[in-house]
Amino acid sequence: MTAMGKVRGYNAGAMLLHWAIALAIILQIAGGFAMMHTQIIPDALRFTTFQWHKTIGLLVLALTLARIAWRLLNPPPAHAPMSRVESGLAHLVHFLFYLLMLAVPLAGWLVVSVSPTAIPTLLAMSPDLPWPHLPLPAAWKGEGVSDLAGTMHAVLAYSTLGLLVLHVAGAIKHSAIDREPSFSRMMPLGRLPRQSTAFLAVPLAAGLAVAFFGGGLAAGRLGPESTSLAVNAAPGESAPAATGASAWTIDKTASSIRYEVAFSGNPIGGTLGRWDAAIAFDPAKPTEGSAKVTVDAASIDVEDAFVKSNVPGPDGFDVAAHPTVTLSVDRFEAAANGFVGHGTMNVKDKIVPLYLPFIFTESDGRAHVTASVVLDRLVLGLGLQNDSTAQWLGKDVTVKLDLFATRAGAASPQS
Ligand code: HEM
Repeated sequence: MTAMGKVRGYNAGAMLLHWAIALAIILQIAGGFAMMHTQIIPDALRFTTFQWHKTIGLLVLALTLARIAWRLLNPPPAHAPMSRVESGLAHLVHFLFYLLMLAVPLAGWLVVSVSPTAIPTLLAMSPDLPWPHLPLPAAWKGEGVSDLAGTMHAVLAYSTLGLLVLHVAGAIKHSAIDREPSFSRMMPLGRLPRQSTAFLAVPLAAGLAVAFFGGGLAAGRLGPESTSLAVNAAPGESAPAATGASAWTIDKTASSIRYEVAFSGNPIGGTLGRWDAAIAFDPAKPTEGSAKVTVDAASIDVEDAFVKSNVPGPDGFDVAAHPTVTLSVDRFEAAANGFVGHGTMNVKDKIVPLYLPFIFTESDGRAHVTASVVLDRLVLGLGLQNDSTAQWLGKDVTVKLDLFATRAGAASPQS
């Protein structure tokens, strides 16, 4: 005999949270598997997929907190009569689900918090929504704990699939074999009477989810991982002024030094904020010239929130130990399309040869120099720890110089 008359369905809040969490978890498992083990996701979208995986995973954690609060105030309605073994199994499966709904996202959060790549978590990829790493001892950071956490995250995530199979199999058995309402208890359709709602659960569940995100975002803004972290201003070593008839005074307001690099399949730009240049150059006697550009490493910025926080750090320009980057040209020569400067570039402890083709034009004592040079960031020791295979961040960095100068001693048209 069926117990249809006595069985109640879940209320609207329970159904909403149940289906939102279920869909998000299925999406997360499918997406997690695809991004880790397949080539389905194009390289240009892989980084983005990772970042959305983190955001949706944290959303699951917040919704799980809300679901637990909801359940405490709205205990599940009694189900149709079943054997003690079946009932015990159903309770065990539900309990393990809650455990995994907390443990899987927490393990994922642990992975990114201890990862040596130090990629920040930005909710919905927005620079305005930085999410903190878990506050863990510094000794935990590194490949050892990160790999362990990754394995834990994967094993727990795939275990959720196992539970899902048991969960759905139980529901099918009750519906199809026992002919008792089971699926319909969690479905917004049908004529089952619904469990009444304890409305105090609404502010409690919503408050918990909001407190989780609000607290996290507040900590993300204040914490050391914040991407809005101001770059320390280290005093740049000034380039000694060039002297002589061929010396030039750079018009810094009109000039710029920018760079471009590919990140996750798209070009991103960056600027060199504070720099100085001493240039001695006579287009009629190029071989007698020389130039030195000194850049305040702390002023090197990038227009991407994910890369930004790593630029001044030890894996970037390591500004605390190496406050300046220098480009030195000790010889110019004429070339087919202009001139070439030969010299060296010094980034951190690396000194590499520099070959700098440029175009020089002059009118009324005002010179305009444009140059574009491609540098290999791996050779310069930049981002080796984060991405030594250039999977996300391209290895070629194109630096573009656009300089305006007046002959030293001549009045600048800008002054
Ligand atoms: C319910 C929520 C989540 C589910 C179901 C889930 C599921 C998965 C799955 C199936 C994988 C692939 C594992 C593998 O085959 O190696 C994965 C990887 C990953 N997940 Fe999640 N995830 C969740 C939440 C999160 C959260 C909240 C974060 C971070 C804030 C996160 C970060 C990661 C990372 C970084 C990886 C790559 C792990 C590695 O490099 O070993 N996940 N996730």
